[in-house]
Amino acid sequence: MSDTAPIEHPSWLTSGDFTEADEPLRLFTAWLKDATASEPRDPTAMALATVDADGRPNARMVLLKGLDERGFVFYTNTASQKGQELDARPEAAMVFYWKSLNRQIRVRGPVEHVTGAEADGYFATRPKQAQIGAWASKQSTPLESRLAFEKAVALYAAKYAIGEVPRPPLWSGYRIVPILIEFWHDRPFRLHDRIEFRRTGPDAAWIKTRLYP
Ligand SMILES: Cc1cc2nc3c(=O)[nH]c(=O)nc-3n(C[C@H](O)[C@H](O)[C@H](O)COP(=O)(O)O)c2cc1C
Repeated sequence: MSDTAPIEHPSWLTSGDFTEADEPLRLFTAWLKDATASEPRDPTAMALATVDADGRPNARMVLLKGLDERGFVFYTNTASQKGQELDARPEAAMVFYWKSLNRQIRVRGPVEHVTGAEADGYFATRPKQAQIGAWASKQSTPLESRLAFEKAVALYAAKYAIGEVPRPPLWSGYRIVPILIEFWHDRPFRLHDRIEFRRTGPDAAWIKTRLYP
């Protein structure tokens, strides 16, 4: 298994019987697989919430790029707003909502950096244009004009015209280590199902609780 290989779809789980599930990461994978079949685009898109230096919440979309028993991985510029916020306060919440399924999954937990080797491995799979973009974008800082960005893209495209593009030092991944994963799906008359899995730490057992909707 590679560092961030997806967990296999469990054959014992059908989409309907999620309240019987006893392992949240396998259930997450099953729902993500359903969403991949039904969403028109970006089934791995999730809203990521962090907290800024003044304690104010901040949220934006990112794409889930890795999942295994250690947690949920996304990639970004570590000097971006979210990167600075996570480095100062390594805690996050994220939420997936799949309109085509009317299902929601919420995740909370501490955040850690992925290893350099893991980030290198994922960066190498990205299209060259996206790799160039990662070099050219000083994400979340003021940009004087679109032209300035296009010039930076052209500069790095020329620099790395031949051979592989190395990973920029400020481009890497974060892993959210889940301590809470909550599954929600709609039921008639707003009698929705909510199942929460909670644990005290990454090595503790999951405790499953049904919640009022
Ligand atoms: C569907 C979608 C997926 C996105 N995925 C990513 C991503 O994986 N990584 C990333 O850095 N930004 C991603 N973005 C852009 C972010 O939402 C955000 O604009 C950017 O990262 C700057 O956020 P920050 O200033 O809070 O750091 C995505 C935006 C959308 C709409």
